[in-house]
Amino acid sequence: MGLLPSIFARKIRTASRRLYRFSTASTIERAEKVSVEKILSLAYNRNQLAGGIIRTGGLPPGRGDTMEFQLKDGMLLGAASAATQIEGGDDNSNWYDWYRRGYVKDDSDPSAAVDHYERWREDLELMKDMGIQCYRMGVEWSRVEPRDGVFDEKAIAHYREEIQALKEAGIPVLLTLHHFNNPLWLEERGGFAQRDNITCYLRFVRKMVESVGDLVSEYITINEPNVYAYNGYLEGAWPPGRKSFLEMSRVMTNMAAAHIEAYGLIRKTRLQMGYKDTRVGVANHLRAFAPKDPKNPLQRFWAERVEELFQGSLTKAMCTGRVVFPIGKHPSIVPGEFCDFHGVNYYTRSTVSGPADGVAENCPVNDLGWEIYPEGIGEVCRKVYGVLKKPIYITENGTCDNRDRFRARYIAEHLRVLCESGLPVERYYHWCFCDNWEWVEGTSARFGLVHVDFETQARTVKDSGAFYKRVIQERGVSEALYEAFCGGEYPKNGEDQG
Ligand code: BGC
Repeated sequence: MGLLPSIFARKIRTASRRLYRFSTASTIERAEKVSVEKILSLAYNRNQLAGGIIRTGGLPPGRGDTMEFQLKDGMLLGAASAATQIEGGDDNSNWYDWYRRGYVKDDSDPSAAVDHYERWREDLELMKDMGIQCYRMGVEWSRVEPRDGVFDEKAIAHYREEIQALKEAGIPVLLTLHHFNNPLWLEERGGFAQRDNITCYLRFVRKMVESVGDLVSEYITINEPNVYAYNGYLEGAWPPGRKSFLEMSRVMTNMAAAHIEAYGLIRKTRLQMGYKDTRVGVANHLRAFAPKDPKNPLQRFWAERVEELFQGSLTKAMCTGRVVFPIGKHPSIVPGEFCDFHGVNYYTRSTVSGPADGVAENCPVNDLGWEIYPEGIGEVCRKVYGVLKKPIYITENGTCDNRDRFRARYIAEHLRVLCESGLPVERYYHWCFCDNWEWVEGTSARFGLVHVDFETQARTVKDSGAFYKRVIQERGVSEALYEAFCGGEYPKNGEDQG
C-alpha cells in the first residue's frame, strides 16, 4: 500500500502544537493556515512510537480457548483483485507513468503485472478448484477508454467474456469501476482534483454498465477514495505526487460526489435494462484507530480526530450525503442513502499518541510492519453499520506474508471475529487471489492465496490457499483445521522480519 510516510520525532512535537490550533479551526482555509498537511502526514506515519500500553493484537483473553467457529448462514467466501495489479498489457495510465518515472520501489513494471489479461482462464480454473464463491474484479478504465471519449470495444468484449465465464462457473462478480488507476488523458487534465472531470467518470461508468449490466448486478464505484486522495494529493507518494491539504480535500469531495452520482446512474441504467436487483457501494479503506494510552484524554481526542479526517467524514458523505470537514460542499452531495452495502477493506490498526500515529510496540505485524489486529475488523464494521444499517461486504482483507507463514491464521482470526460479530456480514473477499503488483511496493509484497513466480508467471496454490479451500468446503474452522494450518507465529514489531 505504501500508505504512510516516514517522520522525525522533532516534527511530531512541532505538529503537536499545530494540531492543537487545528482542532479549533472550523474551515478548510483556516486549517490550511496551520499546515494541516504537515499534521496529517504525521498522523498517518507508520514509524514506531516508543512505548505503548494498549493491548496489541490477538483475540480477547477468555475467548481464545478454542478457535472453532462456523461461517454465518449465507455468507459467501471469495477473493478480490484490481485490474492494474494483475492484468498487465496496459501502458496508458497514471500508474504506468509513475513507474516510468522511477517511483516504484523495486522498479517492477505494471504493464507486466501477473499477465492475468492473457491468463485469466488459468486463474479461473484455480478459483474453481479452490471453491471460490464470489469474485471482486476491476475493469481498467485506461484500457477501455484509451482516449477521451473513444472506447475500445475489443477490451469491453474481453471483460464480457471473462465475466460470462465466471458466471457460468457459478462465481458472481462484484465489479470495481475505479481502483486508483486513471487513463493518462484524464490525469493530464487534473483527474479527480477537477470537478468537471466527474462527467468523464460517469460517461465511463454508463458505458460499462450498458456493456455488462446483463451479467453483473453488483458494483463498487470507487476503491478507497481516502487512500487515493491521501497518497496522491497530500503525501505525494502516489501519482500525481501532490502535497496539498486543500487538493486532498477537493479530491475527497469530488470523489464523494462522483460516487453519489454513479450510485444513481448505475441503478437507473440497469433499471432501464429491465433489472431491479442492482447493488452499489464503495470499497472503504477502514482502519481501527486507538489511543496509545486509552486513559489519556488528549490521546483519545487525537485518535478520534485522526480517524474522522482519514475515513469517518468520507464514509458519512458517501453513504448519507452528510458534509463533515474535510469534505467540502458540492451540489451532488445532498442528504440521502447512497449505498446498498458497506464495502469494508480492513487490514490493520493505527496507534495514536498525539498528532502522529504509529504501530504499537511489541505487537504482531505483517511483513510490511502493519499491526495484525483481528478485532479491528469487527470495530470498523460496527462503526459503518452505525452510520447506515446496510449489509456488510468485506471487500478486502488479507496480509503481506511473503513466505506464507501466518496468512492462514490471519484469515481464521479475522473470519472468526466477523462470524461472532452479530453483524450482517454477507461476503468476505480475501485480498487477494494471487500475488500481484503492489503499487509503489511493486512485486516485493505478496498478499496472494496463490504464489506467482514473477519471472515465469507460474502459479502455485499456497498452504493458505489450501486452508481457504477447506474453510469454504467445511463452512467454518474446526480445531483440527486450525491446528493443521494456523500454527504460524506472527512477527513482532521491531523484530527483523527477514
Ligand atoms: C488496496 C489494494 C492493495 C491492498 C494491499 C488496499 O488498500 O485497495 O489495491 O493491494 O490495500 O496494500
